[in-house]
Amino acid sequence: MKMPVEKCLVDSYELKTNEDLGHGWFRLDIHAPDMAPMIRAGQFVQVRVDSGDTPLIRRPFSVYDVNPTPGPDASELSLLVQNVGPGTRVMSQLRSGDSIGLMGPLGHPMPRPDLDDGGVLFLVGGGIGVAPLYLYSRELAKEKSTLDHRVLLGARNRSLLIGLDAFEKLGTHTVAATDDGSQGYAGNVIDLLSTELDAITEQTPVAGIGCGPHGMNQALRDLAVERDLNFWISLENYMPCGFGACFGCVIATPEEHEFRYRRVCVEGPCFPVKELPALL
Ligand SMILES: Cc1cc2nc3c(=O)[nH]c(=O)nc-3n(C[C@H](O)[C@H](O)[C@H](O)COP(=O)(O)OP(=O)(O)OC[C@H]3O[C@@H](n4cnc5c(N)ncnc54)[C@H](O)[C@@H]3O)c2cc1C
Ligand code: FES
Repeated sequence: MKMPVEKCLVDSYELKTNEDLGHGWFRLDIHAPDMAPMIRAGQFVQVRVDSGDTPLIRRPFSVYDVNPTPGPDASELSLLVQNVGPGTRVMSQLRSGDSIGLMGPLGHPMPRPDLDDGGVLFLVGGGIGVAPLYLYSRELAKEKSTLDHRVLLGARNRSLLIGLDAFEKLGTHTVAATDDGSQGYAGNVIDLLSTELDAITEQTPVAGIGCGPHGMNQALRDLAVERDLNFWISLENYMPCGFGACFGCVIATPEEHEFRYRRVCVEGPCFPVKELPALL
């Protein structure tokens, strides 16, 4: 398989804005006129985080958006980041005009499942998993796609439903699920998906892409296998290098598969559920 890293850039870029979104979330808008036009939904960048006395580390982040529009005219890329530890804490403190080291784009773009007219594509996101799905929706909007695609977003409560407004502004059919019932469907996003699937006739072609925390991905994998659905899941395993050299991100494959292990960073990060192990 062709390695996506062949087209990878490594450089420092100027941070335009760092917007605090509350609850530990923030959005970084980065001026990257050479990299932004290359990015497709589902790809990620490795961010170099320099914090004085801590060692130089790189952290992987999905590209959340490219502006002014996805494709050759893009000059800016955005990351949606949750502050969870030392690296993301340093990133949260970056200010306009600071430089930020990026390596990317990395990984393969998310697939475009071949759905006939009348089919439904579900985009299922939880937590930080919302980031690549938003760029995917923007690409579909730019292409004026007539594909019936529906975004299902899950969070513990309404204040953690990051990105919902952005999808709604795009005009994408979006349904929220909250564990505590404070907004939308009361329950987790996989139960919401089950409900939506039950409401669709058996003849309707269905496909989907999911990206979320480990528990959500596992439940999605199990549901898709049980119902024999054409679903893909984008994994966010630890990625020490991000370009295939360290094997720190591997997943086992089902036994019949040609290779025993696959590297999530270069062979993924998005895989058909049939190529995922029973336990993620
Ligand atoms: C392909 C990919 C895309 C990603 N996209 C985004 C994104 O768009 N936005 C975003 O905020 N984060 C994203 N992440 C996760 C992000 O890389 C980590 O949150 C970040 O590296 C944490 O760095 P840290 O130094 O702040 O914290 P660390 O000290 O490294 O970790 C802090 C806590 O987060 C947990 N953690 C760290 N990395 C991961 C991971 N990959 N999976 C599960 N738990 C983890 C650790 O167990 C620990 O509890 C992505 C990860 C991958 C692999
Ligand atoms: S992160 Fe190094 S091989 Fe995938």
